[in-house]
Amino acid sequence: MRRADPPRPEELDPIERVSRDELMALQLERLRWTLSHAYENVPFYRHKFDSAGVRPSDCKDLGDLAKLPFTTKQDLRDHYPFGMFAVPRERVVRIHASSGTTGQPTVVGYTRRDIDVWADVMARSIRASGGRPGDIVHVAYGYGLFTGGLGAHYGAERLGCTVVPVSGGMTPRQVRLITDFRPDIVMVTPSYLLAMLDEFEAQGLDPRASSLRIGICGAEPWTERMREEIEDRFDLHAVDIYGLSEVIGPGVANECVESKDGLHVWEDHFYPETVDPFTGMPADAGELVLTSLTKEGMPVIRYRTRDLTRLLPGTARPAFRRMEKVTGRTDDLIILRGVNVFPTQIEELVLRTPGLSPHFQLRLTRPERLDVMTVEVEARPGFEGRSEAAAALRKAVKDTVGVRVEVEVVDPETLERSVGKLKRVIDMRQR
Ligand code: DLL
Repeated sequence: MRRADPPRPEELDPIERVSRDELMALQLERLRWTLSHAYENVPFYRHKFDSAGVRPSDCKDLGDLAKLPFTTKQDLRDHYPFGMFAVPRERVVRIHASSGTTGQPTVVGYTRRDIDVWADVMARSIRASGGRPGDIVHVAYGYGLFTGGLGAHYGAERLGCTVVPVSGGMTPRQVRLITDFRPDIVMVTPSYLLAMLDEFEAQGLDPRASSLRIGICGAEPWTERMREEIEDRFDLHAVDIYGLSEVIGPGVANECVESKDGLHVWEDHFYPETVDPFTGMPADAGELVLTSLTKEGMPVIRYRTRDLTRLLPGTARPAFRRMEKVTGRTDDLIILRGVNVFPTQIEELVLRTPGLSPHFQLRLTRPERLDVMTVEVEARPGFEGRSEAAAALRKAVKDTVGVRVEVEVVDPETLERSVGKLKRVIDMRQR
């Protein structure tokens, strides 16, 4: 595989080399600042703390955080657009927002210092992925209200890279620019990177011969199998990046290229917890809850991300805990005839089935009274044994997930490609 050198100790941010104790002391100091900043400047937090009978000064150690109430996406929606800001609107230099396809969009605001912190954690993330000053970075995350494009852009500039701000879409042009500009790094959703792979091949180009050494992929769940597929077909290191607009954007956590064993949470700025998604009680594995430690414009306290993961001790950056690859969101969970299914479980199995491509979608229907899930999956080009592959996938799902699904193997290039975040599930049950 291509070279991707981990940073040398002297290339790290000083904070990346501190002990866990030193980091925790910094976290406590920053947490106490955040709590009083939020309490004094955001009526929502003041009311919430008051009705829970807690005061910022009650937080004497990091464990006390668990006494504070959660913040949810609904809270952000209820204060649309600027009601969660903790500074006068004039001090907010940037707005981002979620797409709002499922309701009121959620709006987030950044002060100049927040933008600076974001650039720093993104630069750290790109370096952890194996990037260095002087590298050419092709940014194919969408630019605009979505945080992917601009987050990657500012981080790559901060690290001292040459940024190519392509944004998503126009796939033939993406391939052309990669071929002509010879970038070292591509930053893109894993599903759109797959679409680019196919476009390389459609143009008769060998993706393994491209200049790319590193792919920094996130914004949607993807599995270890998907990593293997991408790394193998592109001959690059595919590294996971996590974040969400409510907390800052991409750059909350990132894998280190030397270990690829989950994402180190940049805990000097974001404090992670995991809770049982149903009871809200602390749990080893469960829903990730994040508290910002340095944000001025829109601090978030115990924000329920709805993302499911597990926290583990640090490895490549010993002081920083890791989060396992996200298995899915609580709202992605499909309950099929009483059995819980995550799209990532199906992704693993599809990619293990010879002859099946990584392009698939899950269609939910209710032909009679029972729900049916159909895995519609493209065959790999030139593959003949479709009915055997369909039977193998049906059996694998039954044996590992424990539920019966339908499988339809369709021609290559028949399913719609995503240019940004992938929509895996088509739910036709309501109609
Ligand atoms: O997706 C920020 C981002 C941009 C992250 C580019 C990484 C790269 P939102 O649009 O607010 O922000 O969506 C956040 O996307 O709560 C997760 O459900 C999902 N997500 C983000 N990164 C990952 C990942 C951006 N690495 C939501 N693995 C989050 C799994 C991810 N899911």
